Amino acid sequence: MKKRVFSGIQPSGNLHIGNYLGALKNWVASQENFDNVFCIVDLHAITVPQDPKILKQKIREIAGIYFAAGIDPKQSTVFVQSDVSAHAELAWILNCFTPMGWMGRMTQFKEKSEDKKENVSVGLFDYPVLMASDILLYDTDEVPVGEDQKQHVEITRDIAQRFNSIYGETFKLPLPVIPKAGARVMDLLEPTKKMSKSDDRPGRTLPLLASTDELRSAIMGAATDSQKEIRFDLDRPGVYNLLEIYEGVTGLDRKEIEAKFEGKGYGEFKKDLAEKVIEFLQPFQKRYRELTQNPDDIDTLLQEGAEKARPIAEKKLNEVKSKVGLG
Ligand code: TYM
Repeated sequence: MKKRVFSGIQPSGNLHIGNYLGALKNWVASQENFDNVFCIVDLHAITVPQDPKILKQKIREIAGIYFAAGIDPKQSTVFVQSDVSAHAELAWILNCFTPMGWMGRMTQFKEKSEDKKENVSVGLFDYPVLMASDILLYDTDEVPVGEDQKQHVEITRDIAQRFNSIYGETFKLPLPVIPKAGARVMDLLEPTKKMSKSDDRPGRTLPLLASTDELRSAIMGAATDSQKEIRFDLDRPGVYNLLEIYEGVTGLDRKEIEAKFEGKGYGEFKKDLAEKVIEFLQPFQKRYRELTQNPDDIDTLLQEGAEKARPIAEKKLNEVKSKVGLG
């Protein structure tokens, strides 16, 4: 029996190179060795305001991106979270076993709610419990995600352990799997901040569906520093970030990359990085354009995915309900 992988992406904003290197690339790379479940987490997306028309489009866009990146519907179950109601149901039950104090420690909530204060939705606060439900419904072994989601996988383990200790072995404890390169790609203009798909100001991110001109200009305009050497040095976040993107898209090791740019200037390095990013994204963008010519095909794949996911999720939900004494 293959081990199970579960992961997901929110259908909001524009997916960027960080989402690719932090998550998607690794889903595809290990796809053959696992039993994979990949979700488009639309219920997570509505924890902040969304335009209904755009949300619907984004769900299909993300599905197109999954398939164009190499997710194979024969090897992986791909579906939309709201199509399988067990996710929301389990989240309610797990809410009742999750202390407020645990949730209050989530750094992503603190960051996302900072400027909204009292207006922030209960859903945003509760978001990690829904994520725990996603993962626990499928007896997940591994959760491949970027660095920012590690804390959420850890709280998933805590919630599972708590439930198991009350009701006996019910949930498998999942492990976060974080990639070596590209686990936390930073904003190109403010490299001390994470690259964010909800930030649509030009020059900050490298959107997966951007034109070559846009990609080139964002890389050429990326913040560096007043030093000269092109080295992986965490104290120089701008250059470090660009080098890490280089590492992620080429697969070269760090020593090789440093040797390649020894004695060279930032201009030359950035030009080469832009070409490498474009080479990396072009075949993906071509597949995306081909696939999305027939949107009905994507809808069919998503429906088939939901049909496969539903019985697995419902079985676990029923086990939980019966243990808790519901119904
Ligand atoms: P989301 O939609 O914000 O991001 C999707 C994936 O991309 C990774 N990521 C990054 N990796 C590297 N550098 C970055 N700058 C960067 N930004 C984002 C994220 O770590 C993630 O892997 N809560 C999740 C979605 C989710 C989920 C799940 C994931 C819901 N349920 C169950 C795994 C398992 C989220 O908002 O990801």
